[in-house]
Amino acid sequence: MTKRVLVLTALGALFTSGLAVAQKKGDAAKGKEVFEQCGVCHSATTGEKKMGPSLMGLFKKEKMANGQKPTDSSVLAMINKGKGTMPAFADVLSAGEKADVLAYLKTL
Ligand code: HEC
Repeated sequence: MTKRVLVLTALGALFTSGLAVAQKKGDAAKGKEVFEQCGVCHSATTGEKKMGPSLMGLFKKEKMANGQKPTDSSVLAMINKGKGTMPAFADVLSAGEKADVLAYLKTL
């Protein structure tokens, strides 16, 4: 009986840590550092348009310039693929850095 409980507990722990990895939340503070690569073209603190549109309040916008609603996946797609003069960051940033920068963008 005790053995069985132990096994179940161990399985439970494995399952929970697996989930934690799958749902790794971005870290906005780290994302702010990642954003330095975006800041040349995007303002985060004013509505000013640089090379690209200001990203202030991005996730509160109804639509991005491409007509899509800003969601984790649509913004991530933008970061991965780029658009026009915006370079693709698919291979430039790690998955963790992308999650971090998304978390940061949500604070703007
Ligand atoms: C070399 C300049 C440049 C860099 C660097 C750059 N972008 Fe952009 N970005 C643009 C331009 C230009 C657009 C507008 C593209 C269009 O609509 O044709 C854009 C559009 C976007 C949009 C859509 C905004 C909207 O309201 O439509 C997001 C989100 C975005 N960029 C995020 C980022 C992030 C995050 C980074 C850094 C990882 C980044 N960009 C780096 C130039 C850049």
